Amino acid sequence: MRPTNKLLLLLVVVIVIVTAATTTFAGDTTTLCVAQEHDALLAFKRGITSVPAGRLASWRRGSDCCRWKGVVCSNRTGHVLELHLGMEEDQSYFSGQISQSLFSLEHLEHLDLGNNWLEFPSGGQTPTLWGCRKSLTYLNLSGMSFDDGMLPPQLGNLSNLQYLDLSNTVDGRQPEDLRSMQPTDLSWLTRLPLLHHLDLSGVNLSMVHDWPHIVNMIPSLKVLYLSRCELESANQRLPHLNLTRLERLDLSYNNFDHPSESCWFWNITSLTYLNLQENLLYGQLPRTLGKMTSLQFFDFSFSGNNLMAGVISPNLMRSLCNLEVLNFEYGLSSSSMTEIYESLPRCSPSKLRELNLGWNNITGTLPAGIGQFTSFVDLNLCNNHLTGLVPSEIFMLNNLTSLCLADNNLTGIITEEVFSGLTRLKYIDLSSNQMGPGFPPWLQRLAGVDYIDMEDTGITGQFPYWFSAAFSLAKKLDFSHNQINGSLPNNMENMSLHHLLLDGNQITGEMLPLPRNLISFSISNNALSGHIPESICESPQLQDMDLGSNRLEGEFPRCLRMRKIKSLILSNNMFLGKFPIFLQSCTNISFLDLSGNKLSGRLPTWIADLVAIQYLRLSYNMFSGSLPFSITNLREMYDMNLAGNRLSGAIPWNLSNLRSMVEKNDYPSVPFFDNFPVVTKRQELFYGDRLSDMVSIDLSSNFLTGVIPDEITSLGSLMNLNLSWNYLTGKIPHKIGSMASLESLDLSNNQLSGEIPLSLSNLSYLAWLDVSYNNLSGRIPSGPQLDTLYDNDPFMYSGNNGLCGPHLQQKCSRVNNAAKLGNGDNKKSDHVPDSINGLGSGFGVGLWVVLCTILFKKTWRIAYFRLFDKVYDSLYVFTKKNCARLARKTL
Ligand SMILES: *[C@@H]1O[C@H](CO)[C@@H](O)[C@H](O)[C@H]1NC(C)=O
Ligand SMILES: *[C@@H]1O[C@H](CO)[C@@H](O)[C@H](O)[C@H]1NC(C)=O
Ligand SMILES: *[C@@H]1O[C@H](CO)[C@@H](O)[C@H](O)[C@H]1NC(C)=O
Ligand SMILES: *[C@@H]1O[C@H](CO)[C@@H](O)[C@H](O)[C@H]1NC(C)=O
Ligand SMILES: *[C@@H]1O[C@H](CO)[C@@H](O)[C@H](O)[C@H]1NC(C)=O
Ligand SMILES: *[C@@H]1O[C@H](CO)[C@@H](O)[C@H](O)[C@H]1NC(C)=O
Ligand SMILES: *[C@@H]1O[C@H](CO)[C@@H](O)[C@H](O)[C@H]1NC(C)=O
Ligand SMILES: *[C@@H]1O[C@H](CO)[C@@H](O)[C@H](O)[C@H]1NC(C)=O
Ligand SMILES: *[C@@H]1O[C@H](CO)[C@@H](O)[C@H](O)[C@H]1NC(C)=O
Repeated sequence: MRPTNKLLLLLVVVIVIVTAATTTFAGDTTTLCVAQEHDALLAFKRGITSVPAGRLASWRRGSDCCRWKGVVCSNRTGHVLELHLGMEEDQSYFSGQISQSLFSLEHLEHLDLGNNWLEFPSGGQTPTLWGCRKSLTYLNLSGMSFDDGMLPPQLGNLSNLQYLDLSNTVDGRQPEDLRSMQPTDLSWLTRLPLLHHLDLSGVNLSMVHDWPHIVNMIPSLKVLYLSRCELESANQRLPHLNLTRLERLDLSYNNFDHPSESCWFWNITSLTYLNLQENLLYGQLPRTLGKMTSLQFFDFSFSGNNLMAGVISPNLMRSLCNLEVLNFEYGLSSSSMTEIYESLPRCSPSKLRELNLGWNNITGTLPAGIGQFTSFVDLNLCNNHLTGLVPSEIFMLNNLTSLCLADNNLTGIITEEVFSGLTRLKYIDLSSNQMGPGFPPWLQRLAGVDYIDMEDTGITGQFPYWFSAAFSLAKKLDFSHNQINGSLPNNMENMSLHHLLLDGNQITGEMLPLPRNLISFSISNNALSGHIPESICESPQLQDMDLGSNRLEGEFPRCLRMRKIKSLILSNNMFLGKFPIFLQSCTNISFLDLSGNKLSGRLPTWIADLVAIQYLRLSYNMFSGSLPFSITNLREMYDMNLAGNRLSGAIPWNLSNLRSMVEKNDYPSVPFFDNFPVVTKRQELFYGDRLSDMVSIDLSSNFLTGVIPDEITSLGSLMNLNLSWNYLTGKIPHKIGSMASLESLDLSNNQLSGEIPLSLSNLSYLAWLDVSYNNLSGRIPSGPQLDTLYDNDPFMYSGNNGLCGPHLQQKCSRVNNAAKLGNGDNKKSDHVPDSINGLGSGFGVGLWVVLCTILFKKTWRIAYFRLFDKVYDSLYVFTKKNCARLARKTL
């Protein structure tokens, strides 16, 4: 470049800057960004500490701010009118401080900062002066935290506001991350005469008792969302209802526990959407509900507590002809199917798409007239007490895509009629009914269905010849817990199945080729025999496979293509050979259960490369040699069970590498198969979904020698430690009392010596302790916890001649005799993992009952799971099913 050119360029730049500083930028001929506003926006950008990639890249000094991403200007004046800076679909959000300068924009009409991590300047103080107070019509500050937990009353100055979103329920973030807002006063809202959309969901309004009166003074409201606001009651008396334009009202997840009839909102006949999910409203639903003829969506689910739930009076909703979605799941006090059926809308044409009456203890039979509701898309009658036949009219519901009749007492389907319908059905769940005996022939008609659940439906006999052809398009089939016998269906390899569950039948014969796209396959507790054919390697998508408790034998084939496997269960078969070599390439595996086979040889050192392992269960095989030192590389491991092998040598000393046992950070993923028992001494706990809570090491019944490494005491989240029946010597680690999570500790039948550390009495969760049959000496520690344990099991110190203590001296000779007897039993049950004694299964059932009660007693559930919403959601479906099953089995 020649010097003159350079000069020229410099001159141009100077001119541009000067022009910019005085009035506008000459970027574009049509839009002219105002300099002050350009600076204000840049000041805003400076306040942002974390910017999602690309979102503010165009915000560069000197360029036309009207062309910046997220900025909309007036074509006429160049003033900034709209700022679209809310969280985007890809979850990218800003964090940092909002610059005061943003509030100097005088022409702003639309300000969207929704779902960011932003704070107001100078310690969260909301600016009092809003330049845009006359122009702003849309303000989205959802997810914003305000310093004092109050909502700023200055917002009442924004006299043209139509949309106001201050909600505090942010997807993907835990509520506790958001500073809780607890305003005491909302009266400023009444200064917004044009407001029609107000969202305060997730804001704690428990101190604002007059909330209905306040909203009633905003007659312009069309949309009012007050979900999860900790509201106590909705039975305030309003002398006159102003909200004649209100269309959408969401009061879900609040704490109303009064008769539903006394709620103030039933007269608002303009409502199209009314959500009362998860409250504790009870009693008769008011007759005025029947007059809300605009209603399209009504959700009263989970609104009842056991005895006092909603009651539907005869014909209540007959004229609600616009109703599309009606949800009463777990919301009605037990009633009869006929009553409910009579009260449904009778309109022509019917618009009711979704009807959910699940979990309501509804009795009676399914009326054939249900076939009139041709508009049904989703029909859920799960978990009731319905009896009798499933009317074939259901098969005429042409628009039905999802049908759940699970957990009733229904007995088969009338099959004489020609089925004309169900062409759109994608999902059908008939589990836990009586559809057998035999293999229902009408299942052939469900050819287009993706998901068919026939678990526990009393099906007997063999797979019919048409099985593979009829379900060739299905994605998931569940026929587990029936009495299907005979061999697996032929020609399965051409099916499109992703999930096939056949557990708990009487299937015999050899494994046959599986569908090629299978992702999960489980056939535990059947009577399959023979070797596993190489064909199993032809399903390379397999992630979960459970072949447990069959009669399979031989070596598992060397499937080099099965690399996606995440959980593999081969337990309780007769597999032979070494630790399967193909696993070396399965680095995603997190759940491996080979227990109860005849596998032998050394554990390979490459086991340490399976770094995703969370559950390693190799118990009751014939593995020998020493424990690979590198096994402690498995930092994700929560459960290591190597009991009942022939392992020798020392326990690796570097146990503190097992990070997940030191400190539990995450909930491990548990395969969705049946419940896995976790065996702690004399307690077979069916953890089911609590399995993900268990942290356990079981090395019992081996030939381990040497000392118990001191580092074991760093495993602060370990709940079960069983080292019994080995040849361990030395002392019990002095700091054992720092293993604060221990619930069960078994060191019995070793050669440990020295004293029992006093710190043992610090273990406040300890529910099982056994140090019997060692060479321990000295005083036994005492403490309330240990004394209780001793009272429950007086043999826990037996067989240690050197031990003394108040209890022992008193009962010494008697205890010793009894212990010798008990010892024989112990030894036996120790080596038979499946033996469940009465105590054990009793405990397991007890646990389930507690868990189920928590799940279904709404108030407890809220308290218990509020902080664990995410975990709870993923477990919910799984558990619901098990609870229903348990209920049936125990009641
Ligand atoms: C400005 O003009 C563009 C194109 O001419 C148009 O798409 C946009 O809607 C206009 N903006 C406003 C705020 O009127
Ligand atoms: C506010 O922003 C959030 C996040 O972008 C969005 O989900 C919500 O719908 C917005 N609120 C309104 C009233 O538009
Ligand atoms: C804005 O609102 C605050 C608090 O309600 C009030 O003190 C202040 O005077 C108002 N400012 C203007 C300019 O109206
Ligand atoms: C809501 O606010 C009330 C009163 O300040 C408080 O007692 C309650 O614990 C709060 N609720 C939640 C869930 O934070
Ligand atoms: C109805 O709304 C008007 C206008 O905001 C208000 O003046 C009046 O007090 C309201 N009536 C009731 C009963 O709240
Ligand atoms: C609702 O309507 C009923 C009769 O239809 C009337 O008795 C009641 O006072 C009304 N409630 C309100 C708050 O307007
Ligand atoms: C259904 O009955 C069971 C057992 O009797 C009870 O625990 C449950 O709360 C009932 N459900 C409803 C919605 O009333
Ligand atoms: C079935 O669904 C189709 C398309 O969604 C719709 O046009 C039709 O009206 C529905 N039939 C009935 C009876 O509602
Ligand atoms: C199911 O129905 C049969 C008879 O039809 C009855 O004997 C049985 O008790 C019922 N079971 C339940 C759980 O209601």
